[in-house]
Amino acid sequence: MLAEEVNRENLSKMVRTFYQMIMDDKTVNPYFIMALGKDLENEAWQEHYKILEDFWLMLMTGEKVYTREAFTPHTEMAELYAETFERWLELFDEVVHMYYTPKLAQKFYKRAEVLSRKFMQWLEITE
Ligand code: HEM
Repeated sequence: MLAEEVNRENLSKMVRTFYQMIMDDKTVNPYFIMALGKDLENEAWQEHYKILEDFWLMLMTGEKVYTREAFTPHTEMAELYAETFERWLELFDEVVHMYYTPKLAQKFYKRAEVLSRKFMQWLEITE
C-alpha cells in the first residue's frame, strides 16, 4: 500500500530501494561506487542511508534532524553533468511513486528538482 505520510520506517525502505536502482544504472553509479564502495551493506553505505533518511525527513516533515551540508560532497566528486542529474531525478521519481501516494511523491520530486537545479547552478552546469 502507498504511504500517505512520511516516517523513518518508509523512508528507510525508499532510500535503500533508491540506491539499489542507482547501482544498477551506469550513468549514476560510478559516483557512488567511488564515494561509498560497491557493497550496499558496508559501513559507509549504512551511514549514507541514515544521513539520507534524516535529510528527507527534514525536507518532507520539517523535523530538524539533518544538520549537515548537502551540497558539499557534490563539489568533491568526479565531474557531474546535466544528464547525470536528469537520470538521478528519473530514478528518484520512479522510487517515490513506488512508496508514496501520487500527491506525496510529487512533493518529494519537486523538492529534489529544485535542489537539483540549485546544485547545477552552483556547479555551473548548463543544460
Ligand atoms: C547528479 C546526481 C547526483 C549524484 C551522482 C550524487 C552523488 C552523491 C554521492 C556519491 C554522495 C556521497 C558522498 C560522500 O559521502 O562522500 C552524495 C551525498 C548526498 N547527496 Fe547526492 N548526488 C546527486 C544528486 C543529489 C541531489 C539532486 C540531491 C538532493 C535532492 C542530493 C542529496 C545528497 C545528500 C543530502 C547527500 C549527503 C550529504 C551529507 O554528507 O550530508 N544528491 N551524493
